[in-house]
Amino acid sequence: MSTNHDRDLTQTRRRFLASSLGAAAIAPLAVPAAAAAFPPAKKRLLILGGTSFLGPAIIDSALARGHEVVLFNRGKTNAEHYPELEKLRGDRNTDDLAALAGRKFDAYIDTSGYVPAHVAATAKLAAENAAAYVFVSTVSVYPRFGGSSEDVDETSETGTVPDDVLAQIDTINASFREGGRWYGGLKALCEAEAEKAMPGRVANLRPGLIVGPRDSSDRFTWWPVRVDRGGEVLAPGNPQAKVQVIDVRDLGEWCVRCVEDEVRGVYNAVGFQGTVTMQDFLGACRCATSQPVEFVWADDATLQEHEVGAWMEMPLWIPGGRGGVRNERAIAKGLGFRPLGDTIRDTLSWAREEAKTRKLSGRTGIAPEKEAKVIAAVKAKRKG
Ligand SMILES: NC(=O)c1ccc[n+]([C@@H]2O[C@H](COP(=O)([O-])OP(=O)(O)OC[C@H]3O[C@@H](n4cnc5c(N)ncnc54)[C@H](OP(=O)(O)O)[C@@H]3O)[C@@H](O)[C@H]2O)c1
Repeated sequence: MSTNHDRDLTQTRRRFLASSLGAAAIAPLAVPAAAAAFPPAKKRLLILGGTSFLGPAIIDSALARGHEVVLFNRGKTNAEHYPELEKLRGDRNTDDLAALAGRKFDAYIDTSGYVPAHVAATAKLAAENAAAYVFVSTVSVYPRFGGSSEDVDETSETGTVPDDVLAQIDTINASFREGGRWYGGLKALCEAEAEKAMPGRVANLRPGLIVGPRDSSDRFTWWPVRVDRGGEVLAPGNPQAKVQVIDVRDLGEWCVRCVEDEVRGVYNAVGFQGTVTMQDFLGACRCATSQPVEFVWADDATLQEHEVGAWMEMPLWIPGGRGGVRNERAIAKGLGFRPLGDTIRDTLSWAREEAKTRKLSGRTGIAPEKEAKVIAAVKAKRKG
């Protein structure tokens, strides 16, 4: 079975070969414009975090590309993973950063910053001890994203957080600041703190939904798993609605390449080259299974009539749709995408293995009985 290392190396070799073949030959492969030489100069990278979902993808890519990686975290999450790496212990919540003092790196890569004061503290250390800071932010910095059918780009307005919320942020439940009401505004302020401490030396990367093997949030994973169950599958809303996600392995590799290529500035880190619709996505899920599948499309009104919840109960569905996130800037700086079919197939294989030993989260996806009820209503409407 191939590993993440193998796949990263294969992808890198493919890009290297493609870049040697010339522009005409590479066009159909959609190779990023800024494909770098391989092997790149060895870098010494510090990851603030590193052991949950995105972190391992960054580590795998960095090691495959010949870099040295050191982790900084509390040692609570998957502490036994990557035994070969140096692990510095500390806690951003309590400003315990002593283990970082005087340690020199080419770059800090920050996957665990949610609170502006925490990022200000680490970026201050990085200003003295590293050439660059890569901060993993989010498209949730745009208040308009999700609430409008217009596209957002890197110049779109970003959110903020009221002072009274900021003042008590350290006492606020972590899940509230990491995914809740103030998540996007906090991330926008984190970006600003990094840039303030290291002007012109920061890459603020704004991913959309990060997906792929090891994603425990199940918002994307639910679909390949559901379609693989076969039968009549309730397909939500407008078949032409845009789907934009980023494979964790593509994002992990790009975080590393941003260091190698000295990428600085603000970038939306989302897929794809061209438009992928809900219909395309579900069709790709069908291609990943051998089960017979029939999609039954229900429009927004029918789903709402049956009180089907957006995004979590019906993953990736937003009633009325929403605008896209422009990604041209990131593509121009080397962000590349593996085929969506590969992401779906790998995610499904991973989920099948996981399902042998544990129940998948169950936080997402419509219950089978409710799905059957809505499908029956759609069919009855068609007949009537
Ligand atoms: N998932 C998505 O769809 C999505 C979308 C857009 C943006 N993002 C962003 O992408 C990033 C994804 O992060 P991830 O969780 O996958 O990253 P990760 O680097 O794989 O895992 C998080 C790391 O942070 C460490 N950590 C947590 N609290 C800490 C603390 N107080 N002090 C020091 N270390 C701490 C954890 O280890 P310990 O627990 O051992 O400390 C763990 O190693 C986040 O910044 C998120 O905002 C995610």
